Amino acid sequence: MARVSVHDLKAMKGRGEKIAMLTAYDYSSAKLLDKAGVPIILVGDSLGMVMLGYDSTLPVTMDDMLHHTRAVVRGTQRAHVVLDMPFMTYQASIEDALRNAGRALQEGGAMSVKVEGGAAMAETVARLVQAGIPVMGHIGLTPQSINQIGGYKVRGKTPAAAVRLMNDAIALEQAGAYAVVLELVPAALSKLISERLAIPTIGIGAGPDCDGQVQVFHDFLGMYPDFTPKHAKHFAEIGRQITEATRQYIAEVQQGSFPTEQESYAMDEATLAELFQTTS
Ligand code: KIV
Repeated sequence: MARVSVHDLKAMKGRGEKIAMLTAYDYSSAKLLDKAGVPIILVGDSLGMVMLGYDSTLPVTMDDMLHHTRAVVRGTQRAHVVLDMPFMTYQASIEDALRNAGRALQEGGAMSVKVEGGAAMAETVARLVQAGIPVMGHIGLTPQSINQIGGYKVRGKTPAAAVRLMNDAIALEQAGAYAVVLELVPAALSKLISERLAIPTIGIGAGPDCDGQVQVFHDFLGMYPDFTPKHAKHFAEIGRQITEATRQYIAEVQQGSFPTEQESYAMDEATLAELFQTTS
């Protein structure tokens, strides 16, 4: 089965077909998303928070990302898999960016990478694209800059900030990015950016008029107990189901009602009789 390519994603925008992207971090979850038909999976550095329990994405390493990306790639046949470049693997120099993004494709098996930042990242994006590495941009709220931004806040709310975001999006497109994530951007501004760009915009907390949407796996399934952002919708309550199932399991083990014969392995009568003879 052919993988969804960056050209397929751009063609979806051309046809007005919305792109439903999700994050995933492991083999089994990725396999379920792929089976359901999700065209693009982001192995987000959000894994630092939802999988590893850090309070930000900053501690995530390239090795963490490669480990999880390999699992997601093994679980998928059709989805395009994007590795989210972690903090300080691409910001210090273009050489760092090339080396680490190269590892994403060579060692992780990803089909493209995502980097945070707008116009300031355009030269890096252009060099990655020249090297044959497709790049997804990410502007608006960029969680790797959380210490500079000072909190998880909506971006582009003043006229000057909105113009900056529009220019960032254009700079990424001109540098050769194949798509751009808009995170926590007012819906009306996302609409303008989406109309202005030929490449798809993928929104998270950026309103309905982006060309696609992305949700974090644990948010969309109600599995992250620490916090639910306003822009996340629980499409299922898996977290609650896990708690209920665990309580039921504990009760059945304590009562002795699990396991039953059905979950046990039988031994034939003759072997059992022989065993009694030799042990008595
Ligand atoms: O790390 C992540 O999951 C992301 C998405 C929120 C876009 O960057």
